[in-house]
Amino acid sequence: PTPGFAYVGGALHAEGVPLSRIADAVGTPAYVYSTAGLEANWHAYDDVLAPYRAKGLGIDICYALKANSNLAVIRTLANLGAGADVVSEGEMRRALAAGIPADRIVFSGVGKTPEEVAAALTVGIHQLNVESFPELEMVSAVATRLGKPAPIAIRINPDVDAGTHGKIATGRKEDKFGIDLSLARDAFARAKALPGLQPVAVAIHIGSQLLKTTPFRQAFGKVAELVQVLREDGIPISRIDLGGGLGVPYRPSDAEPDHHSYVAAIFETVGHLGCQVTLEPGRSLVASAGLLLARVNFVKEGLHRRFLVLDAAMNDLMRPALYDAWHTLLPVEEPSPASPLSPVDVVGPVCESGDTFAKQREMPPVAPGALVAFLTAGAYGAAMSGTYNSRPLVPEVLVTGDSFAVVRRRPSFEESLALEKMPDWLSPTPA
Ligand code: LLP
Repeated sequence: PTPGFAYVGGALHAEGVPLSRIADAVGTPAYVYSTAGLEANWHAYDDVLAPYRAKGLGIDICYALKANSNLAVIRTLANLGAGADVVSEGEMRRALAAGIPADRIVFSGVGKTPEEVAAALTVGIHQLNVESFPELEMVSAVATRLGKPAPIAIRINPDVDAGTHGKIATGRKEDKFGIDLSLARDAFARAKALPGLQPVAVAIHIGSQLLKTTPFRQAFGKVAELVQVLREDGIPISRIDLGGGLGVPYRPSDAEPDHHSYVAAIFETVGHLGCQVTLEPGRSLVASAGLLLARVNFVKEGLHRRFLVLDAAMNDLMRPALYDAWHTLLPVEEPSPASPLSPVDVVGPVCESGDTFAKQREMPPVAPGALVAFLTAGAYGAAMSGTYNSRPLVPEVLVTGDSFAVVRRRPSFEESLALEKMPDWLSPTPA
């Protein structure tokens, strides 16, 4: 169905590895990533960019770690040529630990702390993307104290409706992100006046899961106009950061995003400015390269509904509960084409009704104990998972060819408890 995952001989495989083998080795639930899938997603951008690079356009792909911050995933993308976009000191440390040099790391985020800014400047970060006037003052103060000038972008809010889910649209005037376009000149003037700041870039990010390129084109056009104006103001803008990448098809009916038209939109809007362009795709590099493997605990026949009760839950894959997101669910054992489909509610064991992956999903018959896989779960899956109901974080497995490796193991219950401590007014054993 997606690069890296396919039925082979009646069983769903990750590349050359049957998923049942992975379930035997690490148990379920588990996230499984395909190296070939990551490579295909990387090349979908990189191959389209190649001719533009040949024409002299400098473009850097800084993978947005928030989509999947597993070290092996980051390293795989880094080996292909990715830099990193990070939004916390934790992500910055992961990028560095995976081998991405500081001068290829962009630090974004609307609420950085002085400690994070200091850590970023100390390692020699490529760029801090600043999102407000108070943040300009803070970065200036930290940079001055450390004696390390801060290369900054100012993220502007272009007021473009990206036409995506409200919780992941970020470029409308009512969103918390960036500085209003009409205040951009003031912000850059302030940045120029403050000590310790080197305002070198304009940044935007209008939202995630965009399947059409029109909103991108609209926003990039506004960036280009602003760069001209700023240059007339005497601010030497040499870089542009265009934010996150394309959306991905989740439903069978979703359109395939068009990398050619996306890259053409970049080249046609900002290509003439001679700026170094940074892209920060997350989802499109990792989503299709990962799945969540789970087991059916029970098939529960209610009077009104049939439920597939899985061993995976909303804490493992939050997207359906949070955004009503659709993730295609496949039985690991290939159903015969003649199998009748019938509607089921696919749920997890967590104690709230929001713990529902799909309602009235048309599925072939699936037996209790069967393995199933949620597709397109490589982005914002493990990265957003938690331990609600004291469920340990699930392991992550990376496949290449016929081999697989556990790239994050399941913590033991003892490890999960080890961070906690009774205060001294409570005796270590119950009274
Ligand atoms: N750059 C910035 C500044 C961002 O805020 C984001 C995503 C990205 C890059 C990466 O965007 P992408 O290429 O992945 O679209 N948890 C949500 C998605 C939240 C996206 C947040 N920002 C989900 O599961 O759909």
